[in-house]
Amino acid sequence: MSIRPLQAKTPPPSSIEDARFAHESEEEFARLLDFYGVHWQYEPRTFPLKHDADDGRVLEAFSPDFYLPDLDLYIELTTLKQGLVTDKHRKIRALRELYPGTNIKLLYKRDYLTLLAKYGIGMVDEQERLAPGEVLISSSQIERRLNELGAQITRDYAGREPLLIGVLKGVTCFMADLMRHIALPVHIDFMTISSYEGDRSGAVRILQDLSENILGRDVIIIEDIVDTGMTLQHLVKMLQARQPASVSVCALLDKRARRLVETPIDYVGFEIPDEFVVGYGLDYRQRFRNLPFVATLRPEAQIEPNGPADE
Ligand code: IMP
Repeated sequence: MSIRPLQAKTPPPSSIEDARFAHESEEEFARLLDFYGVHWQYEPRTFPLKHDADDGRVLEAFSPDFYLPDLDLYIELTTLKQGLVTDKHRKIRALRELYPGTNIKLLYKRDYLTLLAKYGIGMVDEQERLAPGEVLISSSQIERRLNELGAQITRDYAGREPLLIGVLKGVTCFMADLMRHIALPVHIDFMTISSYEGDRSGAVRILQDLSENILGRDVIIIEDIVDTGMTLQHLVKMLQARQPASVSVCALLDKRARRLVETPIDYVGFEIPDEFVVGYGLDYRQRFRNLPFVATLRPEAQIEPNGPADE
């Protein structure tokens, strides 16, 4: 018996107006994808997982919530707690075995809440005060890494005058420190882009554009952190359209585990685990940017009275 996913008979919904979402969180997720210009389809395919041995009837099937055609990626959103998804895990495992090469990612409730919380959307209990917890990267670790990154960029761009483009506001500390470690005549410029605000639809907008013309220039995008990769992908596309000679990307932090959209990063400061972090430019609801280290965020009640100590 040939095993193929079943296509929906009508074209699958690919806009908020057309889709009938089973859950509010799916609609919110679709809005987020729209915002970053990532095309999606809602439940376009059903993957039969078990057939009746006698008559071939489908006994069990799985329809992932989203398909992102440009990335050839299925996404299943689960609002269940991480420990309660054993059955989904089993189905996804079966799907991967039966349909090799199918790219599917499960987003847990926790992933989803952090995704929204980072845009300041009220998923974090207002009663629960958050504060910097454990120091993940100390200021001396940052300093050492800046030396290495600066040397690498200096080598790679020898004889050229790269234009460093920082994306505000999170990049401030990193940009200011990194450029002092590059032994080349660099130019700098900044850009502010809107971030997702939940209730509004629409797309990424440039709130403050570059002051320099980048046509024919060697551009290095400097980012604080790459998480899902959606911001970066959008930005790279936007800048490529202005026909620079080259575009590369340097990010202080890379949260690999949470990537939804693949965009190459040429220079990475640190790969970090799937944790929400603050400090050294990064904020939580505009706070903690001025910490000289990168720390995780914890409910205040769980933190030692003296707070985190740098090494
Ligand atoms: P992405 O589009 O999901 O890759 O998100 C990138 C942007 O989200 C970054 O430029 C940050 O402004 C913000 N962000 C992502 N993760 C964190 C975090 O752990 N702490 C603070 N801001 C974050």
